[in-house]
Amino acid sequence: MEYWRLNVICQLLLFFTAGVYSDEHDHIYKDNEEVVLWMNTVGPYHNRQETYAYFTLPFCAGSKESISHYHETLSEALQGVELEFSGIDIEFKNPVQKPTEYCAVSLNSDKYKAFVYAIKNHYWYEMYIDDLPIWGVVGEVKDNNYYIWTHKKFEIGYNENQIIDVNLTSEEKVLLTPDAKFGFTYEVIWKPVATKFRDRFDKYLDHNFFQHRIHWFSIFNSFMMVIFLVGLVSMILMRTLGKDYARYSKDEDIDDMERDLGDEYGWKQVHGDVFRPASNALLFSALIGAGHQLTLVVFWVIIFAIMGELYTERGSLLSTSIFVYAVTSPVNGFCGGSLYSRMGGKIWIKQMLVSAFMLPALVCGTAFFINFIAIYYHASRAIPFGTMVAVTCICLFVILPLTLVGTVLGRNLGGQPDYPCRINAVPRPIPEKKWFMEPGVIILLGGILPFASIFIEMYFIFTSFWAYKIYYVYGFMLLVFIILMIVTVCVTIVCTYILLNAEDYRWQWTSFLAAGFTAGYVYLYAIYYFFFKTKMYGLFQTAFYFGYMALFSGALGIMCGTVGYTGASIFVRKIYATVKID
Ligand SMILES: *[C@@H]1O[C@H](CO)[C@@H](O)[C@H](O)[C@H]1NC(C)=O
Repeated sequence: MEYWRLNVICQLLLFFTAGVYSDEHDHIYKDNEEVVLWMNTVGPYHNRQETYAYFTLPFCAGSKESISHYHETLSEALQGVELEFSGIDIEFKNPVQKPTEYCAVSLNSDKYKAFVYAIKNHYWYEMYIDDLPIWGVVGEVKDNNYYIWTHKKFEIGYNENQIIDVNLTSEEKVLLTPDAKFGFTYEVIWKPVATKFRDRFDKYLDHNFFQHRIHWFSIFNSFMMVIFLVGLVSMILMRTLGKDYARYSKDEDIDDMERDLGDEYGWKQVHGDVFRPASNALLFSALIGAGHQLTLVVFWVIIFAIMGELYTERGSLLSTSIFVYAVTSPVNGFCGGSLYSRMGGKIWIKQMLVSAFMLPALVCGTAFFINFIAIYYHASRAIPFGTMVAVTCICLFVILPLTLVGTVLGRNLGGQPDYPCRINAVPRPIPEKKWFMEPGVIILLGGILPFASIFIEMYFIFTSFWAYKIYYVYGFMLLVFIILMIVTVCVTIVCTYILLNAEDYRWQWTSFLAAGFTAGYVYLYAIYYFFFKTKMYGLFQTAFYFGYMALFSGALGIMCGTVGYTGASIFVRKIYATVKID
């Protein structure tokens, strides 16, 4: 019941995001009803994102007239979905004998070259029947001869009045010559199967890959790390707040530590500077605002993905993300605006604009750059003009006003500085310290543990995005997300503590960057992944890979940085609240 209601809400959300939520049909067929075979894209097997519309290769369509172009939703257009009707006549439960020809092609030298190029590069195509994806290869090479598959055998499994399962077998290869003539044929075999309709996507899920022992092992490992770090942080807290505890517990050790540390140096010395506004407060608060929003978006999208099995619907994950992002804009305004105001910032409109458009601008900038190359390649990834207009409208008329509301609320409700210590008029000079206490070094080291806690999950996420695997273990992802947050907070607190003990009060940027540097390691890992785990090639796919990986890492960095900074600022408040100023 609960699940059902959430699903309805989810669908409603999707409806509003997508504008037109074109449901082709309700997946229920009458006997002899038309079953539409959609042609989607064709492209090299190793470059999953380099896709072209199916009919850019000189294939031919059947003679059947029907809706020739599928009405795409916004997110499908963004993902390069390009459905075109195949013209092939398929009717529910109505078998078609082998070989029924649906069209014929006579080659000339251009068409010949196009096919040869496609076969040489292992092109394969994607089709859809009743929202089920089907893949087939264009042809094969043997002894320097190029053969094209001309016969498609569809085996369609049905359960009562619904389509459950489609298998495609390519048969009948024909040798390609510059003046060859050949027909494309098909046959359809209908088989009753026992699988339930709601389980029909299960065959696309690679359980062996995702439920691998290493996956469980990595979670366990990260969990151990969490216990260790939480222990470490509680020790630091005991030590800094030690005086109060020691008085009651008469713990000799803590007393000893306190004596070693003394009151004459260490973090207590910077109490007059620690709440000094961060340099470049505008950018800093914009980053923090955007980071809060991003964290929330990631959390909710994972929750929706767990609830809704979004992988069964083309593009629905992206629609959900766009929707959640738009709705959470006030959080961005609130957190960024109130922080900026507490730091004494005056040009709040500029801060709000930077905050609201930072992530959209990053995304659009990357997409724009990739788009140039996509247009040059005539790839189906090229984003249509109408889609760009739609995205711009969402930014201007939904995200911006909501951010404004958040900012105004934030400045009025949370904008008063209420620091436990007064800020001295004159900044204290920062003393010389050992090299490993320099902010730069702390930042470099800060990302290592958070990265260690997620890199195995990164492998699974990368593989499902860049290869033909459907990611469905969102429960794992939620666990890893929570572990990442905890590890990041703990590590940042330790980093901040080390920095403050070196009497360096520039902790805001340091904590943000130390936590955010996790993303630096993720990007390094992405480079490794590209060269050793994938076989991508060509300018388009390479640019696509590195462009979107940079975007992904950047977003992850902002998210981790914000979480780390937030943890550190709670820590700093807590320890300085106990400082008695005489
Ligand atoms: C499709 O292939 C799978 C695996 O070979 C098989 O289990 C299934 O029964 C086939 N479905 C149909 C409709 O033939």
